[in-house]
Amino acid sequence: MSPPNRTVTVKQVNTVIADAYSHSHHLLHILYALQQRFLHISHDAVREVASHLGLPISQVESVVEFYSFFHKIPCGRYNILLSNCTSCGYKAGGENLLHMLCHRLHVVAGKTRADGLVSIDETSCIGMCDHGAALLVNGMPITRLDAGKITRIADLVETETPLADWPAGWFRIDDNIHVSGLLLKDDVAAGDALRAMLALGAADTLSEIIQSGLRGRGGAGFSTGMKWKFCREARGDTHYVVCNADEGEPGTFKDRVLLHSHANAVLEGMTICASVIGAEQGFLYLRGEYRYLLPQLQAVLEHRRELCLLGNNILSHPGFNFDIEIIVGAGAYICGEESALIESLEGKRGVPRNRPPFPVTHGYLGQPTVVNNVETFAAAAHIALRGSAWFRAVGTEKSSGSKILSVSGDCAAPGIYEYPFGVSIQQVLDDCGAKDVQAVQVGGPSGMLINQEKFNRKLGFEDLPTGGSLMVFGQGRDLLAIIVNFAHFFAHESCGFCTPCRVGTALLKNGLDKIASGHGTQYDMDEMQRMGMLVKRRSHCGLGQTAANPILDSLQRFPHLFEQRLAHSNFEPYFNLDGALEEARQVTHRDDAAAHLK
Ligand SMILES: Cc1cc2nc3c(=O)[nH]c(=O)nc-3n(C[C@H](O)[C@H](O)[C@H](O)COP(=O)(O)O)c2cc1C
Ligand code: SF4
Repeated sequence: MSPPNRTVTVKQVNTVIADAYSHSHHLLHILYALQQRFLHISHDAVREVASHLGLPISQVESVVEFYSFFHKIPCGRYNILLSNCTSCGYKAGGENLLHMLCHRLHVVAGKTRADGLVSIDETSCIGMCDHGAALLVNGMPITRLDAGKITRIADLVETETPLADWPAGWFRIDDNIHVSGLLLKDDVAAGDALRAMLALGAADTLSEIIQSGLRGRGGAGFSTGMKWKFCREARGDTHYVVCNADEGEPGTFKDRVLLHSHANAVLEGMTICASVIGAEQGFLYLRGEYRYLLPQLQAVLEHRRELCLLGNNILSHPGFNFDIEIIVGAGAYICGEESALIESLEGKRGVPRNRPPFPVTHGYLGQPTVVNNVETFAAAAHIALRGSAWFRAVGTEKSSGSKILSVSGDCAAPGIYEYPFGVSIQQVLDDCGAKDVQAVQVGGPSGMLINQEKFNRKLGFEDLPTGGSLMVFGQGRDLLAIIVNFAHFFAHESCGFCTPCRVGTALLKNGLDKIASGHGTQYDMDEMQRMGMLVKRRSHCGLGQTAANPILDSLQRFPHLFEQRLAHSNFEPYFNLDGALEEARQVTHRDDAAAHLK
């Protein structure tokens, strides 16, 4: 698999491009094919892709640089990425499994071993938080890692055992559904919701969706019916439906389960939306970390085409034409933000757009586009089948229906819990077997960190909104380490477009590192507060606007976490000036008082 000589490579590059292009014209798809075949995307490959797609070389180059799953220099034939999430991360079991694996395979993290066999690195949460520590090897997830498994993985790599011969059970991913409600109890059989929609008519189905009170499950909670209505009424040559399956918020994995076991409901919801807004093309944007779900999802799509639920004249309705293409992301959390996702679909870096205009009027290729979360589409299919009253009968006044939660962390039964909106945090904690809980992070790192006194608060748009993640932290956890982890996540995932977020998240990360290592002062605490507010207020998109939440929340609710680590001085610089002079002292063989700063 190592790249052969240059002439052959260019020829091979073009063969791979042509083959990939025959399946999909999307830039990400073609780059994936090259990455998989050659383990990197060379400058020659960039040039050939640009020429093939009629794009500027600079655009293709910048896309390769933007996404963390593309490499300009070859990664290993075994490319191993360990999650650094607080729930499925490599430190989850108390041992540093990343260091252990690197040590056994003689690899420096982030670098490819000289013989090209293996590369090991860390990556943001891979959505396996109900499965313990987890990694991806060539895109395939292995979970429930421990020291023993790490040793066996190292042996299998060293002996160059093909992945197909690794223990099959290692790759098994469970749904771990512990509480089922409206969406998970009964499935939507392929075609049932579509037939109900066709019997009622698109306009009346839209009214049902509006009356159901369904609000987006991706976090922001905008009325789904109104979104569809605005898009239906928007002028444009072509309308599009996009399913946001980027699910990158650490601690969130409910879309993984819906796609794995309820794909028909999701795809049916997209098809109903297409009929309502008049779209003929849909995209499912699947996060790169879930690439292993691709063959199964493609099979479901193919089956639906055979059943005449996709394609031309769906269910023999003349002019009802719609199909769905799956585009796989490449390791960028920001692509979950809907306008960044659309940029990515268009073959660009995932940089959020200015809004307004919103995607409902100016989305994919500038055309009216509905972007909804996986769970939102599944709920829409159920509503089309069972009616708005059925949905409204559950939940609260402003938050109708149910919410699927991804529960992880210090509890006996991490996994999927579906509750009517209005459920209290305490109820969830009781059900998942969480004892001696110190704090709960609701909605992932961009959400809210709440302490014991607030466990009677209720999940819902009136009180505690959430995209679905609930991370439980027991008394034994070092909460400051968790906040540091979140700060590193945001600094790493900032797309770099706007200064408050690009610089601010890095400064917050550095400041927290300083405090956590025992060098912080009151000055640093004040700086965290000031910088946190600045990043929150001045950033361009939701990532920056929420990145400081864990720090600001914990400064307010858990100030002792910081205070107990402060150094006993009013100010200590980030930079150790005297330490920096050490090399000069050694070279000049001086260690007298005058060679030190006072
Ligand atoms: C940084 C960032 C990441 C996001 N990630 C996701 C995601 O992974 N999945 C999702 O559905 N929405 C995500 N969103 C919200 C989307 O921008 C958008 O609101 C949502 O897809 C709309 O669908 P809904 O109305 O069904 O919730 C994210 C937003 C931000 C700011
Ligand atoms: S806030 Fe952060 S992620 Fe959003 S546009 Fe600015 S730099 Fe990019």
